[in-house]
Amino acid sequence: MKRIYLDHAATTPMKAGVLDAMLPWMADHVAANASSVHRSGQRARAAVEEARERLAQAIHGAPGEIVFTSGATEADALGLLGPLAALERTESPRRALVVNAAEHAAILEPAKREAHAGRHVHWLPPGQEGAPSVETLEAALTALEEPPALVAVMHTNNETGALAEVTALAQVAHDHGALFLCDAVQAFGYAPLDVTTLGADLVSLSAHKVGGPQGVGALWVRDGVALDGLTIGGGQERGKRAGTHATASIVGFGVAAEQAGQGVASRAERTAAVRDHLERALLALPGVHGNATGPRGPKHLNVRIDDVEGEALLIALDDAGVEVSAGSACSAGSVEPSHVLLAMGFDKREARSSLRFSVHEDTRLEMIDETVERFERVLGHLRNVQR
Ligand SMILES: Cc1ncc(COP(=O)(O)O)c(C=O)c1O
Repeated sequence: MKRIYLDHAATTPMKAGVLDAMLPWMADHVAANASSVHRSGQRARAAVEEARERLAQAIHGAPGEIVFTSGATEADALGLLGPLAALERTESPRRALVVNAAEHAAILEPAKREAHAGRHVHWLPPGQEGAPSVETLEAALTALEEPPALVAVMHTNNETGALAEVTALAQVAHDHGALFLCDAVQAFGYAPLDVTTLGADLVSLSAHKVGGPQGVGALWVRDGVALDGLTIGGGQERGKRAGTHATASIVGFGVAAEQAGQGVASRAERTAAVRDHLERALLALPGVHGNATGPRGPKHLNVRIDDVEGEALLIALDDAGVEVSAGSACSAGSVEPSHVLLAMGFDKREARSSLRFSVHEDTRLEMIDETVERFERVLGHLRNVQR
């Protein structure tokens, strides 16, 4: 049985050329630390700087605005907490945080920790469409009792694909004197990302969502935005992210980022055509419903299936060779319903009966047809068992 991978929002295979570009930095130049003064070190440094330029070019930023990190989880934490620390150092009265309740855990958890430590955090409801509206943000900022420091709203939701109106939201944040952090992990390569027009001050990215290696990411920090590093020590990344550079991974990210920045419109169109084909076929089945109703990115499909536990369906689909995601965390034997779907107004039962499919540019229509066949078979079986 051929396995079908439809979990590209979780991670996606490396693109051609990425591993080849990385290998010399793992095998041949293993001793070269990009901070070392000797020639091998300087060669590694040059490779890191070339990757920085490639990534900067892909998002139309300046190389000096890129901070390499261990992934988007770290980039999100740095983007959220770094500016807060810098503002605190200057004893700024701007302290409040405004955060989309449907963010990835990489934003939610540091924000929750700030709330526990006494900072005022306002959670923005994403509404039924899955992304907070401009009006919701405006109302939240107007009602705040202390001046806002930062607003965080992601570009493309990782569970539903819901698109936020980033430029308009960032404008509202700026009108209230706040910085704007945008997690663009799920958008990179699938939506035009031009930091000169996007409006955000901080943008987080991950390599492994665009065909680069796992364990490396970046935060784009608009020139002039003050940010204190969270890891301090060696002074790498201009003091914003200390720690020896992961040269091979950064080189791989550079190659993947360059490719991600090219042909975005046609990639998005091809990907959406495949996703739409899947959506049409699944929603034609009895008791299967779409979960995101608003504008969406091209690779995500989140569906709700009447009277079936998403987790049971996920496992049965896996047995049938189809790999998808439940969009929920399984911890200590208990399945937590998706916080994204709950924030959108679905109840726990609905959230628990939902699945995320995510395709990519190379997913073929035959794979989708085969997926739908297996899905129908598995669903019929589960419903019979439960009857
Ligand atoms: C929207 C979003 N933000 C952040 C992350 C974390 O990225 P990384 O795996 O690079 O830490 C992910 C990955 O699942 C994501 O989808």
